[in-house]
Amino acid sequence: MTIAQRVALVTGANRGLGFEVARQLAAQGFWACLGVRDLAKGERAAKTLGRNARAVALDVASASAPREAVGEIERRYGRLDVLINNAAVHYDDGARAIDPDWTVVSEAFETNVIGAWRVAAACAPLLAAGGHGRLVNVSSAAGALTSMSAGTPAYSVTKAALNALTRILADELRPARVLVNAVCPGWVATDMGGSGGRRVEEGAAGIVWAATLLDDGPSGGFFRDRQSIPW
Ligand SMILES: NC(=O)c1ccc[n+]([C@@H]2O[C@H](COP(=O)([O-])OP(=O)(O)OC[C@H]3O[C@@H](n4cnc5c(N)ncnc54)[C@H](OP(=O)(O)O)[C@@H]3O)[C@@H](O)[C@H]2O)c1
Repeated sequence: MTIAQRVALVTGANRGLGFEVARQLAAQGFWACLGVRDLAKGERAAKTLGRNARAVALDVASASAPREAVGEIERRYGRLDVLINNAAVHYDDGARAIDPDWTVVSEAFETNVIGAWRVAAACAPLLAAGGHGRLVNVSSAAGALTSMSAGTPAYSVTKAALNALTRILADELRPARVLVNAVCPGWVATDMGGSGGRRVEEGAAGIVWAATLLDDGPSGGFFRDRQSIPW
């Protein structure tokens, strides 16, 4: 298998960290599938990355879109080597758990947890079939239980749940040699992160590292900048 044949799916890839991860993977020779909820936006973004990139309709909050997107990838490429669960919403800074906005809480769960779970489940058979699959859940230190405190309640609880899902998927997919890890990109200057954070290239690098681990790499871990961090 040569690297040029490998296929990666990145959710929420029309902008921000997802787009940059897709860009870095395409530059490494992957076929980069940009999972996007607005196909026109996604096609514009994919075009800027050249012939290795392609947009795929994928609203992770839809019950049917993940299976349809994976079906499209299977028909086109016949394989999937890497899944990056990147799409997320609602960094609810200033919100309080004792006075919740249930719309925000429920949308955050639907996208950040159930969405990532749906896409992982849809991709698992193809990732397992290749024997070298990599699954990266883009998480956040905001989801670490050891340092959990008030602030961003919907976001933090969903990232803690995503971390739990990471552990379970890593265990279930170990026999198929799929390496599953959670990665915090650090504070990054994107629409979600706002200004002042580090450059998107730096934040994406740790995600790409986890997506391209060698076969003896870690699974079931939580990392930032290639270093293990507390759950
Ligand atoms: N930026 C930071 O400082 C930071 C820190 C820690 C962790 N993270 C994590 O890094 C990841 C990327 O964050 P970011 O800063 O790049 O965020 P962003 O700039 O807000 O981009 C979010 C992306 O997710 C997509 N998205 C949202 N809901 C979706 C859905 N239902 N289906 C498909 N795509 C959807 C958005 O698409 P649309 O354009 O259609 O809205 C957009 O492409 C997230 O998981 C975030 O929690 C970020």
